[in-house]
Amino acid sequence: MTERLHRDFLAITDFSRTELAYLFALAERMRAGHYREKPLAGKALAMIFMKASTRTRVSFEVGTWQLGGHALFLSPRDVQLGRGEPIADTARVLSRYVDGIMIRTFAHAEVEELAKFAGVPVINGLTDLSHPCQILADILTVRQHLGEITGKKVAWIGDGNNMANSWIEAAGVLGFELVLACPEGYDPDAGILAGAGEHARVVRDPAEAAKGAHVVNTDVWASMGQEEEQALREKAFAGYEVNAALMKQADKKAIFLHCLPAHRGEEVSAEVIDGPQSRVWDEAENRLHAQKAVMAVLMGGEQLR
Ligand code: CP
Ligand code: NVA
Repeated sequence: MTERLHRDFLAITDFSRTELAYLFALAERMRAGHYREKPLAGKALAMIFMKASTRTRVSFEVGTWQLGGHALFLSPRDVQLGRGEPIADTARVLSRYVDGIMIRTFAHAEVEELAKFAGVPVINGLTDLSHPCQILADILTVRQHLGEITGKKVAWIGDGNNMANSWIEAAGVLGFELVLACPEGYDPDAGILAGAGEHARVVRDPAEAAKGAHVVNTDVWASMGQEEEQALREKAFAGYEVNAALMKQADKKAIFLHCLPAHRGEEVSAEVIDGPQSRVWDEAENRLHAQKAVMAVLMGGEQLR
């Protein structure tokens, strides 16, 4: 095996605290329109989507184009991966054509397998385990509205899912306080939680998590692939809706985040998501800036310093 000269983005922990600070600064320059470089000129990104997507697909495709590159949308209906071609073979073949691979799939192990055999950077566009690109965008949104995340309290209300796991990793790397309120049986990944040490903890009471929080965050109760558990989960998550009463527990200037798509009347009330504390549209926009920064670094030779 030759030495790997590239790096992947499979988890928030793939970047150090210092690197994340540079990454956020680069994304902010991009958002402000102060970055005119085309680091992806002549380069291509393959985007494998084994699950549906609006934001991830559009922000990666537009972002690649804005950086001078070309993105290809590959769905299982069209590529041989959907007919059982091994991931390792797909990785080796795609690496002969493209300069980076973004993948959204079910099992996290598939992304790791892809990264193991690819000769180009691999970016995790969501797995059942984690959603690191979204958390970069979420933290950019916190910075945009509240400043540095260090010293802030972040509340996670609901399922200990892929989003929750990536928030926990971020708390560990960046050192802010994260309190997750999850019903019993819906805790985040135990290993990831342990990795964040004293920065992240799980409670059962949403009000305890929200108390004094600067950021209140939630996500769907049934993630992609869990559709048949919807009714069961609606019962388990009763009392976990982020509504006006819960937001009252938080800091006066608290912002509400949701990665979207959202279900009004389930995990969040319409009053909150469409209300004055909601920053979900900025959050969605920040996907574009965050991922452009990641691609510029991983695929375009941009330095994190
Ligand atoms: N938040 C998010 O990842 O949205 P999509 O599923 O639309 O990509
Ligand atoms: N937890 C959700 C996030 C969607 C962006 C899911 O995995 O479906």
